[in-house]
Amino acid sequence: AQEVTFYEAVGGEETFRRLVHRFYQGVAEDPLLRPLYPEEDLGPAEERLRLFLIQYWGGPNTYSARRGHPRLRMRHAPFRIGTAERDAWLRHMRDAVDELKLPQHLEQMLWNYLQMAAHSLVNTPD
Ligand code: HEM
Repeated sequence: AQEVTFYEAVGGEETFRRLVHRFYQGVAEDPLLRPLYPEEDLGPAEERLRLFLIQYWGGPNTYSARRGHPRLRMRHAPFRIGTAERDAWLRHMRDAVDELKLPQHLEQMLWNYLQMAAHSLVNTPD
């Protein structure tokens, strides 16, 4: 049987490109989150998150070809992520997800995952 991946069902690379670009427009303007990003140019961070999400949802494995195993907890350890940072991250992601106008069941799957992942990356108690 031919299985359609989530990646394909939501529209492939173009959809993830729009999602992550819109998200980083929010981060760029955010006084709490922007200082966490070590590089002045957010472009490379945008590409890493886009490639990670594409891989996670069944698209090409370019992320791991370039970066290796994701190890997201470890890769976020240098950054102070409390509940305020998590909520700001999710707020920009929510705006970005809304703009995709996905069918409701697909939107819900994406949003459930993003919420779970963001909660799992909090590394600093309030
Ligand atoms: C990288 C912050 C949640 C996936 C980063 C970086 C920062 C950051 C500052 C470094 C930028 C870079 O150079 O790539 C945060 C904050 C979060 C959060 C404040 C709030 C909870 C998430 C979530 C995911 C994620 C939920 C996945 C669904 C990634 C990936 C990278 C990254 C894939 C690049 C890792 C690498 O290959 O080096 N994040 N992040 N982040 N983040 Fe997050």
